[in-house]
Amino acid sequence: MTKTIGFIGLGNMGQAILKGMLTNGFTTANQVIVSRRNPEALVQIEEKFGVETTTDNRVVAKQADLLILAVKPNIYVSIMQEIRDYVKDDVIIVHIAAGISIATIETAFARPIKVARAMPNTPAMVGQAMTGLCFNDALNADDKKMVADLFASLGKVEIIDETLIDAVIGVSGSSPAILYMVIEAVADGAVKAGMPRQQAYQFAAQAMLGSAKMVLETGEHPGQLKDAVCSPGGTTIEMVTKAEEKGLRASILASVDAAITKSIQLTQK
Ligand SMILES: NC(=O)c1ccc[n+]([C@@H]2O[C@H](COP(=O)([O-])OP(=O)(O)OC[C@H]3O[C@@H](n4cnc5c(N)ncnc54)[C@H](OP(=O)(O)O)[C@@H]3O)[C@@H](O)[C@H]2O)c1
Repeated sequence: MTKTIGFIGLGNMGQAILKGMLTNGFTTANQVIVSRRNPEALVQIEEKFGVETTTDNRVVAKQADLLILAVKPNIYVSIMQEIRDYVKDDVIIVHIAAGISIATIETAFARPIKVARAMPNTPAMVGQAMTGLCFNDALNADDKKMVADLFASLGKVEIIDETLIDAVIGVSGSSPAILYMVIEAVADGAVKAGMPRQQAYQFAAQAMLGSAKMVLETGEHPGQLKDAVCSPGGTTIEMVTKAEEKGLRASILASVDAAITKSIQLTQK
């Protein structure tokens, strides 16, 4: 890859993406330029990743062939107003914010522009992201492949229709938060029974990782896998009964639905 990759904003998600793309050889540090406002944070970023940094977003906009906007959604529009006269003609804007449509980006640039909309998640930090990706019509096949390769360097990527982006936010963008809560609660159960806390996290997290791999690698229905663990009259069916009594599935479904609803509301603002 000989293209210059620009980041405007480099917080949690931006760093996860940068780390993934450098670790997996999508690009090299000397082809990346980053801007954010905090100069001390930029020094740390230079030391950690070896990339060029600046506090001037327009410098990044001028140099980038692929420009990743990794700021919070509420400042997207002002950032686009700041940079729109400086970006290269054929730049690809990669946008990762919840609640901002491709159409909003096109309107903000006020001219035809290549836009890729991605919804990754923070497991990108360990090469296990799940990313939903869509494009506007301005990207050609090579452009699309380049952006898909970028996100493939962070984990798994699926090309989706933009109408599914809110569902992606619920199912993988935001869901790690509640999956961590599940790990925490499962570990609490073991701590209650006397297991040291760190050991309990190890057991609970590995159980979740193994269960996820079972779903992905066997292709079996999650319900079938659950049934296979439940011996008649055994401990697991007791656990499942209590989880149903306490509304585990309904509460998780409602939580995912809440994230999706919020994403739709943000987009309509
Ligand atoms: N976190 C997730 O799991 C996740 C998942 C999918 C998508 N996203 C999306 O990723 C985006 C970033 O989220 P995040 O969690 O990484 O946020 P974050 O950690 O708060 O990072 C935001 C970054 O923006 C920078 N910034 C703020 N104002 C700026 C400005 N005027 N010019 C340049 N840089 C500026 C901040 O640095 P300074 O303060 O130094 O300027 C910081 O580096 C959001 O749009 C979010 O919707 C997040």
